[in-house]
Amino acid sequence: MNDSELKLAALRADDVIFKYLPEEDGYPATVISAMNYSVKTGGKRIRPIFMQETYKMFGGKGEVVEPFMAAIEMIHTYSLVHDDLEAMDNDEFRRGRKTTHVIYGEGMAILAGDGLLNLAFETALKAFDVKGADNAGVIKALKLLAEKSGLYGMLGGQACDVDAEQKKRAIDMDELMYIHKNKTGALIEAAMLIGAILAGADDKELEKVDQIALLVGTAFQIEDDILDVEGDASVTGKPVGSDERNNKVTYVTLCGIEEARSDARAMSERAIEVFDSLGRENDFLRELIISMIGRVS
Ligand code: IPE
Ligand code: IPE
Ligand code: MG
Ligand code: MG
Ligand code: MG
Repeated sequence: MNDSELKLAALRADDVIFKYLPEEDGYPATVISAMNYSVKTGGKRIRPIFMQETYKMFGGKGEVVEPFMAAIEMIHTYSLVHDDLEAMDNDEFRRGRKTTHVIYGEGMAILAGDGLLNLAFETALKAFDVKGADNAGVIKALKLLAEKSGLYGMLGGQACDVDAEQKKRAIDMDELMYIHKNKTGALIEAAMLIGAILAGADDKELEKVDQIALLVGTAFQIEDDILDVEGDASVTGKPVGSDERNNKVTYVTLCGIEEARSDARAMSERAIEVFDSLGRENDFLRELIISMIGRVS
């Protein structure tokens, strides 16, 4: 898969996501502007793309997936806005632009993150209004979105990451895998599982999709740790060396860059094996998983 195919897919996802963004008017216009700034500035959109492609692979047709595509990107974006705050990773660049707190101030960035999290659920609930929506599927998808964003998902992983940093405590591979699986794996899991659920995949298929997504998500964070060391900021759109500055324990500090690279590759290859065992076809999705190996952005 080449870069322009990925960019095109991101633009198609943007068409869906942007429909659900609020108008910047009324007294809260500033916070709305901060929310829109955070979502609209770039982003690879891999979570909504994974969701939509998984939906298509299981025969999903129609628009019920669209509110969920927007919702997952809103939750991901809120996690980035808060992750960049001075109290967390203290980063000033994201997606090639200044971070939300640099432009709007810390208080407004906190509120913009909160606003995006809330708007995500307001948006996902709109799936009930889509004609022909299967209510049971929508309820199952909503439960998953809530769970994978929270304590037993992204927030749990981020909290553990911050705890280790604040206490300057050593973490072992077990805890690092917990962090990677949760802070990053969980939203990729939610994306693919929601796509599959809305398309009516059965329990056995969901089990395999879950395995694929966790492998892809964990590999994605290992690649992110590598990019923090040797990425090109003009391509990733975010700073190099943030983890080192924060004395973060990462996959690279624990295992070294070569092992990190080969472990991420092995996870993606295992994901492809499970993908092939599904007996379903979506060449774009298969290629997308492969393209995450050694990614540069
Ligand atoms: C960055 O995610 C944070 C991680 C979970 C690794 P992405 O690499 O998907 O960031 P955007 O959305 O493309 O900016
Ligand atoms: C954060 O991991 C993942 C999130 C849930 C936001 P990082 O802190 O490594 O993400 P980047 O490198 O800032 O994108
Ligand atoms: Mg972080
Ligand atoms: Mg960060
Ligand atoms: Mg990082």
